[in-house]
Amino acid sequence: MKQKIEQRLEQPQSASAVPQDLLQALIEAEDPESGSRLTAAELLDQVMVLFLAGHETSASALAMAAYLLAQFPEAQQRLRAEVEQALGGEERPLQFDDLRLLAYGAALFNETLRLYPPLSFFIREASADGELGGSRCPMRSLLILSPWVIQRHEAHWSEPHAFRPERFLAETATAEERQLAREAWLPFGLGPRKCPGAAFALQEALLVLAELVRRYALAPEPGHTPDLVGRLTLRSRNGVVLRLLPRSVKA
Ligand code: HEM
Repeated sequence: MKQKIEQRLEQPQSASAVPQDLLQALIEAEDPESGSRLTAAELLDQVMVLFLAGHETSASALAMAAYLLAQFPEAQQRLRAEVEQALGGEERPLQFDDLRLLAYGAALFNETLRLYPPLSFFIREASADGELGGSRCPMRSLLILSPWVIQRHEAHWSEPHAFRPERFLAETATAEERQLAREAWLPFGLGPRKCPGAAFALQEALLVLAELVRRYALAPEPGHTPDLVGRLTLRSRNGVVLRLLPRSVKA
């Protein structure tokens, strides 16, 4: 990776062959006050953080979304119909502009993140002495926040363990569900340290899931249930096994 960054920095920046990718965006980013740019070492740090924060999390979410699509053929069919409608019958790969037409796909991904948050817990340190929920909370206490618990808590969500993407769909969500989506749904965290890659993650997921259901019918593997464990990210000890049956699509 270090070598690739150095090669890119040596390439004339005006060359038409320079790829317009995330690395290039980081290379061209300028501090608005000083006009300075990131050094090679700083670029490496940024790229490594993006890999670490954006790779495992997205992989976990995509695996569980594919698992749910296989378990719920009606949801799978609805997503496929939405993708085909967005393409208007054209046989071409999906493009960025098509993604905003995939409202059901976005709702399905949000519901996946509710049921299977890739970061099932994260930690905060109290910066001052305080009180929390009636208990003393001294400075430097470590507080563990768990999206997994909050997002499956029956005090918040009705049928908390059921897969219902409609909860997140503007046309069907109740006022209460819209409020829950703001206050009891935190797969990307909340507040100033909220995940800066959330929009990127959604776009990436929509592209992958849309192309997946276009090209394949997803079916469960008989007898297989993922054995989930929350380490740094949510993972399955025995993998996520599905059956993919090719569909004939010219993309
Ligand atoms: C479904 C996918 C993703 C989930 C569920 C997720 C979740 C999270 C959460 C919960 C945090 C906050 C952790 C904390 O407060 O301690 C976080 C931070 C972060 N995420 Fe994501 N993330 C995802 C994808 C991505 C992607 C694709 C990128 C980059 C392209 C990314 C970059 C980051 C970075 C850089 C931070 C640290 C921000 C900071 O500390 O200020 N994430 N993510």
